[in-house]
Amino acid sequence: QSFFTPIQNTAPPSSTKGHTKISVIGVGNVGMAIAQTILTQDLADELALVDAVKDKLRGEMLDLQHAAAFLPRTKILSSIDYSVTARSDLCIVTAGARQNPGESRLNLLQRNVGLFKKIIPPLAQLSPDAILLIVSNPVDVLTYVAWKLSGFPSNRVIGSGTNLDSSRFRFLIADHIDVNAQDVQAYIVGEHGDSSVALWSSISVGGVPVVSYLEKQQIPCEKETLERIHKEVVGSAYEVIRLKGYTSWAIGYSAANLAFSILRNQRKIHPVTVLANGFYGIGPGAGGGEVFLSLPALLGRGGALAVTNVHMTEEEAQRLRDSAKTLLELQRQLEI
Ligand code: NAD
Ligand code: LAC
Repeated sequence: QSFFTPIQNTAPPSSTKGHTKISVIGVGNVGMAIAQTILTQDLADELALVDAVKDKLRGEMLDLQHAAAFLPRTKILSSIDYSVTARSDLCIVTAGARQNPGESRLNLLQRNVGLFKKIIPPLAQLSPDAILLIVSNPVDVLTYVAWKLSGFPSNRVIGSGTNLDSSRFRFLIADHIDVNAQDVQAYIVGEHGDSSVALWSSISVGGVPVVSYLEKQQIPCEKETLERIHKEVVGSAYEVIRLKGYTSWAIGYSAANLAFSILRNQRKIHPVTVLANGFYGIGPGAGGGEVFLSLPALLGRGGALAVTNVHMTEEEAQRLRDSAKTLLELQRQLEI
C-alpha cells in the first residue's frame, strides 16, 4: 500500500493572478480570531469580511484596519453584500449559531443548515475557483452541506475538523511529559466532537512511538492516562464554553494554520474534514453513504490532495466507522 491515497482532480487553479484574497464569513468570536491571525501571517493581499449585522461588521473592519501600522500590508474590506468576496482564493465560513453551555455541536445543525443555504450559493458563484474552509458547527455535516450546495469538487471543500482537537491532544500529551507540543505527533480523527477517535498508535514524541515504548517498558497504567487525555480533549470545548461562553483563540490559530498550508502550497498533513469515500471502509462502496469527517490529509494549493494511509488498530478503525455512522444518520435527516 502506498503512503498516500490521492484525491482526484487536485490540480491548482490555472489562473494564478499573483494576488491572494481570503474571505471570512461571520465576524463573531471565531471569524475575528481567524481574521486577526491571518493578518499576522502575511498571507493575503486582500481580506474581505461578511456578516449579517452591519454595524458590528463595520466596527470590526475598522478595528482591524487601525492595526495597519503594525502588520504586513493587507487591504481589508467588508460588506453585508457577498459581492465583496468575488474572486476569493479561500472562503472561510464561521457564521452561525454556537453552543450554549452543555449543548452538543450536533444540536446546532438545523439552525446552521438554514444559514448555509443563504451563504454558500453566492460564495460559490462569485468565487468559482475558491477553496471553501468550513468552521461553523457541526463542522463535519456542514462541510457535506457546503459541498452539496456549492457543487465544487470535494478536494476544494474542507472542514477545520479535528485539526483543533489534535492540537488539544498534543498540548495535553506535551504538558504531561513536559515537552514542546510541536515535538508531539498525534492525531485525532473522525467527528470534530463527541465521537472523535484518538489514534494511539500515531503518537510519537521526538520520533519515539509512545504506545509501543510503554508496552516494551510494561507500563500498562499509562494507557489509562491516554484514555483520560482523550476524554479531556472531548471535554475541552465544553469547559471553555462553560467558563468564557465560547471558544475562539485556538480555532483562530487552527484555521489560519490550515489557510497557510493551503495557500502557500505547503503539502502539510493535517487532520481535517474531507470526503471520506473509500477510506478505512467508509463510504458507499462499504455499504455506507457519502460522509465527511476528519482524516489526516495532505493540504496544498489544490485543497485536499491526498489522504495518508495511517495505520489503525481494528479498534480504532471500528471507532472511526462508528463516528461515520453518527454523522451519516444526521446527514440522512437533512433536506438540502
Ligand atoms: P458568534 O455568535 O460570536 O458569531 C457568529 C456570527 O455569525 C455573528 O457575527 C452573526 O452576526 C453571524 N451571522 C449569522 N447569520 C449570518 C449570515 N446569514 N450571514 C453572515 N453572518 C451571519 O459565534 P462564534 O463564537 O464566532 O461561533 C461561530 C461558529 O463557529 C459556531 O457555529 C461555533 O459552534 C463554531 N465554532 C467552530 C469551531 C471548530 O473547531 N470548528 C470552533 C469554535 C466555534
Ligand atoms: C471547539 C468548538 C466549539 O472549540 O467546536 O471545539
